[in-house]
Parts: sequence; structure tokens; C-alpha cells
Amino acid sequence: MSTQQQISREERIERLKIDFTETEKVILSRRSVRLYKKEQVPEFMVRRILEAGRFAPSAGNSQPWKFVVVRDAQVIESITKTVVNLCVLLRRMTDYTRPGYGWMKPSVKFFTRLRYNDLHPVPFGAISLIAQGKLSVWHGAPTVILIFKDVRGVSNPDFDCGIAGQNMVLAAHSMGLGTCWVGFARPAFEYIAKWRKYFGIEFPFKFANSIAVGWPKGKPDGMVARQTHAVDWYESGQRRTIY
Ligand SMILES: Cc1cc2nc3c(=O)[nH]c(=O)nc-3n(C[C@H](O)[C@H](O)[C@H](O)COP(=O)(O)O)c2cc1C
Repeated sequence: MSTQQQISREERIERLKIDFTETEKVILSRRSVRLYKKEQVPEFMVRRILEAGRFAPSAGNSQPWKFVVVRDAQVIESITKTVVNLCVLLRRMTDYTRPGYGWMKPSVKFFTRLRYNDLHPVPFGAISLIAQGKLSVWHGAPTVILIFKDVRGVSNPDFDCGIAGQNMVLAAHSMGLGTCWVGFARPAFEYIAKWRKYFGIEFPFKFANSIAVGWPKGKPDGMVARQTHAVDWYESGQRRTIY
């Protein structure tokens, strides 16, 4: 911080031309970690991560979130079993490719269109993998942060929870920890009252998302390929497209 204050703006701009800032390096090198060491993350580090979430901006500063930290392996395992069971059920209800189940195709297609985001081909494929035990839920992370949204929040509470969550993800990564957003935990909280009751979740809170946190096994971090979306740029009365 003090170095930044001591150098002039011109010098800072020159430095930007030759190197990324520390924040940019954290953003660009983060990636989802799906293999963790068993070793628990020190409590003070998790508290710092939560603090990064608490400082996130939110519409109208409504801070429409509730963070829950879970560090009991049996509880994490038990929620995981619930998610697996629900995925098995969902797979049974939707897999029209099994012999004799072709009649389900039209209704499944209709249902898929109705819940396009949830039943997009990516989560749809993952549901099958989870049901078969080929994809775990929190990937063996010893710490899980559940994010619940206050549905009464200003504008779009999911958006605010996403920003808070990404603050936590980046803070964790800057500390050398691995993280993975895990949206697949949602059915356990949406459909199974037991888990809402266990964590004392009631109106106005609803599950928004969750984050696995732990020490990564191996070295998963690095630049991740991304599509280059065209960006339209309006300036001096002209429009151009940059990539
Ligand atoms: C809101 C959200 C939910 C996600 N849910 C899951 C999940 O349930 N399981 C999982 O393994 N990865 C999940 N991911 C991770 C994405 O698959 C990952 O971010 C994406 O493939 C890009 O890879 P990267 O994070 O390594 O850059 C989720 C990511 C986001 C942002």
C-alpha cells in the first residue's frame, strides 16, 4: 500500500505496461480446485476470507447474505449423500435414453426448457456423474462456506451473493488456498427440510451457492482458457469492436 502511495501516477502507469498488479495476478491465476488435502485450514484464515465477503458491495448496501461455515467432515459427507440421492432420483425421472423409457422424452424436454438454467446440458451431465459417484460435491474440501441469500434484498440478491462469494474466493486464493464454487449443493437445501432445519435456515433466507475451501493437492492454478467475447467500444462518436 505504501509503495503505491509513494510512486507517481505516471510511474504507476509505466509499471502497468510491463506487469500485472498483484490483484490481477490473483484473478488471472485462480482456478477451480477439485482435489484437496485432508489438512484443515486454520480458523483465522477462514475468518479473513469471510471478512473479504463482508466487504463486498451490494445493491443499496443491503448485504443480503448469510454465510455458514461447515467444517465437520461427517456433516459435509451427509449433505453430499443427500445430493447424491437426489441426483439418482432426478436421473431416474429424466433419463429417457434407458430402454423402455422413450415415452418420457417429450415431458423431459418440456421440463428442461422450463428450468433451462438448472437443467442446462452442463448441470444435466453433472447430475448423471454425481448420481454415479463419478463427481463429488465439495471435492473432499475440509471447509465449506454456504451462502444463503436474503430474498428481501434490493434488486437481485443472487448477484450480491455472487460478488461476496467471489471476494472470498479471491481472498482465499491470495492466501494460497484452493476453492471451488459448488452450486450442486442447492437441491439439499431446496428440497430437504432437514438441512434447512439443521442450519436454522428459514424465511427470508434461501440457498444461493457454496464454496469449497482447502489446501490444494498438486498445482491446479494457472491461466484458464476463456472465450474472447467481442466488446463494442463507443468513443468520439465512433463504434469499434475490440477483443
Ligand atoms: C456459480 C458457480 C457454480 C459452480 N458450481 C460448480 C459445482 O457444483 N461443481 C463444480 O465442480 N464446479 C462448479 N463451478 C466451477 C465451474 O465449473 C468453473 O468455474 C468453470 O468451469 C471455470 O473454470 P475455473 O474456475 O477453473 O476458471 C461453479 C462455478 C460457479 C461460478
